[in-house]
Amino acid sequence: MSNRTYDIAVIPGDGIGKEVMPEGVRALEAAASRFGFSVRQQWHDFASCDYYARHGTMMPEDWKQRLGRPSALFFGAVGWPDTVPDHVSLWGSLLQFRREYDQYVNLRPVRLMEGVPCPLAGRKPGDIDFWVVRENTEGEYSSVGGRMFPGTAREIVLQETVMTRHGVDRILRFAFDLASKRPRKLLTSATKSNGIAITMPYWDERVEAISAEYPDVSHNKFHIDILTANFVLKPQIFDVVVGSNLFGDILSDLGPACAGTIGIAPSGNINPEGDHPSLFEPVHGSAPDIAGQNVANPIGQVWSAAMMLDHLGEADAAAAIMSAIETVLKEPGLRTRDLGGRASTTDCGKAIADAIRTA
Ligand code: NAI
Ligand code: MG
Repeated sequence: MSNRTYDIAVIPGDGIGKEVMPEGVRALEAAASRFGFSVRQQWHDFASCDYYARHGTMMPEDWKQRLGRPSALFFGAVGWPDTVPDHVSLWGSLLQFRREYDQYVNLRPVRLMEGVPCPLAGRKPGDIDFWVVRENTEGEYSSVGGRMFPGTAREIVLQETVMTRHGVDRILRFAFDLASKRPRKLLTSATKSNGIAITMPYWDERVEAISAEYPDVSHNKFHIDILTANFVLKPQIFDVVVGSNLFGDILSDLGPACAGTIGIAPSGNINPEGDHPSLFEPVHGSAPDIAGQNVANPIGQVWSAAMMLDHLGEADAAAAIMSAIETVLKEPGLRTRDLGGRASTTDCGKAIADAIRTA
């Protein structure tokens, strides 16, 4: 047994989360045995609407104690709108992890893979390959504000954007760091300093200030409106794209959508310093429309496992999972329904695990 052991909190959640999670874990175990580390899994049934039905809350009061001090959280998807309103299920679970664990980076890859039809005309694998880095804790999503004189003609509603030097600088440093490790070494910043004339010029100023620490990384900026247009029109010009909470939210959905099905997109909610555990999950939700049929695409969950291993320092294992995903996507018989194939969730997941073992 190796001395590299990771304690993973496994939280499948709801709907297809419960179907894709076993495939994510299968890939993790295959990578562990091939690369000589071990994964200790601790499965949890909370952060789900089933748990809510039994207990009246999404998570136990002492969820932090129950999780202990895992190396990372591996999450499926949460939500079952027929029984629990989405704001209750999301705020009661995932958003608690993001806040309490100060996961201030939301990271998503945007990569066009062979075997995945691209919604943008004329693009082939290799043309689209970049990362979206979203600030995950402050910015436009603040609780500073309020409503006065509700229901009257004097009604006033305010919600303030909060940008702190601490919060802006740390997300920019993460993005510059990531760019410095990529061959193109290019950082693109999302701004809107022409319209949002106080906070966005501040954001731009901090980009300039932090860029001085990274002389080998070049950087540019676009206003968010033309930036979204360029995701569609010229996706090949991007390498690492960083945005505030709101801009990053939009870009981190648009980016993966430009590279095909939502079923394969992964994400990380990261606390880079490691003061708290990070969380890795597919971008998609619980997909009630296809849940329970064994047809969901497990690749978003499996790719999340690769991001998690990369974060934990197991870069070779992460790369092996990525090449296994590529191998399986090239095989029409192993594709799930969302990619026009007929393979089941388990067929696809088992094929990926086999490819990891033999790659
Ligand atoms: P969704 O991502 O669950 O589904 C959107 C569409 O994509 C559906 O047609 C679904 O069948 C399809 N789809 C999603 N994942 C797929 C996969 N792996 N393979 C094949 N097809 C897939 O988003 P929706 O319907 O808006 O939300 C459903 C529930 O999930 C809601 O309760 C929502 O709050 C929750 N949700 C949770 C998220 C999370 O846990 N991070 C993220 C997004 C939504
Ligand atoms: Mg979003």
